[in-house]
Amino acid sequence: MTPQDSRAALVTGGTSGIGFAIARRLQSDGLRVAVLDLDRPPAREVAREHDLTFIGADLSRRADCRRAVDETVSALGGLDVLVNNAGFQHIDPIPDFPEDTWDTMLHVMLTAPFLLSKYAWGYLTRSGQGRIVNVASIHGHVASPFKSAYISAKHGLIGFTRTAALEAGEVGLTVNAICPGYVRTPLVEGQIADQARTRGLSPAEVEQKVMLEPAAIKRLLEPEDVAALASYVVSPAAWGMTGAVLDLDLGWTAR
Ligand SMILES: NC(=O)c1ccc[n+]([C@@H]2O[C@H](COP(=O)([O-])OP(=O)(O)OC[C@H]3O[C@@H](n4cnc5c(N)ncnc54)[C@H](O)[C@@H]3O)[C@@H](O)[C@H]2O)c1
Repeated sequence: MTPQDSRAALVTGGTSGIGFAIARRLQSDGLRVAVLDLDRPPAREVAREHDLTFIGADLSRRADCRRAVDETVSALGGLDVLVNNAGFQHIDPIPDFPEDTWDTMLHVMLTAPFLLSKYAWGYLTRSGQGRIVNVASIHGHVASPFKSAYISAKHGLIGFTRTAALEAGEVGLTVNAICPGYVRTPLVEGQIADQARTRGLSPAEVEQKVMLEPAAIKRLLEPEDVAALASYVVSPAAWGMTGAVLDLDLGWTAR
């Protein structure tokens, strides 16, 4: 990517973890970048500090998805790259899983990527170099117990990615999914702390014996590792890659 790249990008969940790393990487690739996140002072502050346009929105609300696209287009003058990254985790067995939490998770991680793609479609197809990047998960391929909503949403997001890719091929828009294994972010730090408490293990033991047990490489990914892959997918060089489901999973699914 050259600094001359003048495309405009929106990264959801862009003030923390993987989303923040992707936003910063696309910014250093030369794109104009807006970050969408829940409208809270620390999120606004992160955006301000790093010269990223902030779009405050709650992706569990349909009206916010529409407004977020409109605000991004008016702030950046267009929208060529959409990174659907926002998400969160809730762990409970199915009989105890709160119905409202299920609805919110499916909305944020599956319905919002559809709505943002739908509302932004006309802009994304304008440059002939449009990109949708969906941050799914290795849990879009495999399951783990007690994560029913998360896993259902991520499996669905892969299906949406493939369908959108087929519809977008003729209009110069690529649609791909990235499936990371465990990445060191606030979301995962929280899971490590929870599991350490419930299993009576140290955080280091949870990391090695629980989270990295199925992995060939016993080391957590960093957000920048995912951002480097996203940077390639967004770049003009990746024009021929669409409908791809890209695993960055430390060898988890190799067995
Ligand atoms: N960390 C990992 O190991 C890992 C692995 C695979 C996939 N992922 C996926 O990567 C994405 C980013 O995760 P992360 O680990 O960086 O988490 P994170 O908690 O650091 O960041 C998630 C961001 O999403 C935002 N968000 C949550 N609900 C929202 C809503 N209703 N509206 C708007 N924004 C909302 C949060 O405010 C936060 O900024 C998620 O989709 C997650 O499922 C993470």
